[in-house]
Amino acid sequence: MTTPLYSIPGAPQPAAVAAPAAAAAGTAVDGARTVNEVLAVSQVEAVMDELDRDLIGLAPVKQRIRDIAALLVIDKLRANLGLAREGRSSAPSLHMCFTGNPGTGKTTVALRIAEILHRLGYVRKGHVVSVTRDDLVGQYIGHTAPKTKEVLKRAMGGVLFIDEAYYLYRPENERDYGQEAIEILLQVMENNRDDLVVILAGYKDRMDTFFRSNPGMSSRIAHHIDFPDYAGAELLQIAERMLAGQHYRFGDGAREAFAEYLERRMRQPHFANARSVRNALDRARLRAASRLFADRDRVLTEADLTTIMPADILASRVFQASAS
Ligand SMILES: Nc1ncnc2c1ncn2[C@@H]1O[C@H](COP(=O)(O)OP(=O)(O)OP(=O)(O)O)[C@@H](O)[C@H]1O
Ligand SMILES: [Mg+2]
Repeated sequence: MTTPLYSIPGAPQPAAVAAPAAAAAGTAVDGARTVNEVLAVSQVEAVMDELDRDLIGLAPVKQRIRDIAALLVIDKLRANLGLAREGRSSAPSLHMCFTGNPGTGKTTVALRIAEILHRLGYVRKGHVVSVTRDDLVGQYIGHTAPKTKEVLKRAMGGVLFIDEAYYLYRPENERDYGQEAIEILLQVMENNRDDLVVILAGYKDRMDTFFRSNPGMSSRIAHHIDFPDYAGAELLQIAERMLAGQHYRFGDGAREAFAEYLERRMRQPHFANARSVRNALDRARLRAASRLFADRDRVLTEADLTTIMPADILASRVFQASAS
């Protein structure tokens, strides 16, 4: 699973590149003739390894990203040999659609993709501008175009991430300004695709409906990636990863308590995968702090200050009989 996809048996290891290659990648990659040369200069594999390591589960998503990266590396090598690219434009279409329920990692993965695109020289800066309908669409006539263009200006050189993109289209309202934003987006997605990648995100069923009514948008999206819900065991691993990142850990029995918490919480409405895990841990840390705060004369050890106890979790509303 974690074996690098690009290790070619017998191939010499690429020389380590000292400086973060990101800034120079665009130009340095231009002379490359082997996959390893592109990888060594761009250091793109480091980002993919990080993605593998830092993100729990998501196996199909990780695989798709490796496939896209492979496509881009080969595209670079083809361009370096002067081979014509498909179609009239010089850049491959990289616009994407991420579908999945809340908290399944879409924003997190978008940030990594932006980094990969940047290292391979497909975008100049590699930043992500995350927006929703309200950032693009105005309330009054004449307000939408400047709003959308301002956002596009900020996103140029990176990734424009449009969360719940389907809200741009409101068929029930004949004069909806969302249509204006969509038209501007379509133009820029076509004309500036060498320097801007658009990622549309949201629930799968709503996105499908949106694409059916907006075939122009659908035809410009090259990659559709579906983010599955996490299994209980994955959520538990995510929780441990998040805690470790904040210098906390589960004390005796707390892991089991959290597993029980998850089992209940997953059955409740508005469960949002890893986001719910993060929120639950925030509340557990709050309770842990109150617990320690109550005993004012006690010398607090490092263990005291870093341990989540079962009580910090079991006090959640989720464990009350009438919990809703
Ligand atoms: N596979 C994972 N491993 C570890 N942490 C994860 C994973 N997926 C998500 N997270 C964490 O969970 C939180 C929510 O993830 P993220 O914001 O990427 O999800 P999202 O799909 O964009 O959600 P939303 O729809 O709510 O915006 C973040 O703090 C992120 O770091
Ligand atoms: Mg998000």
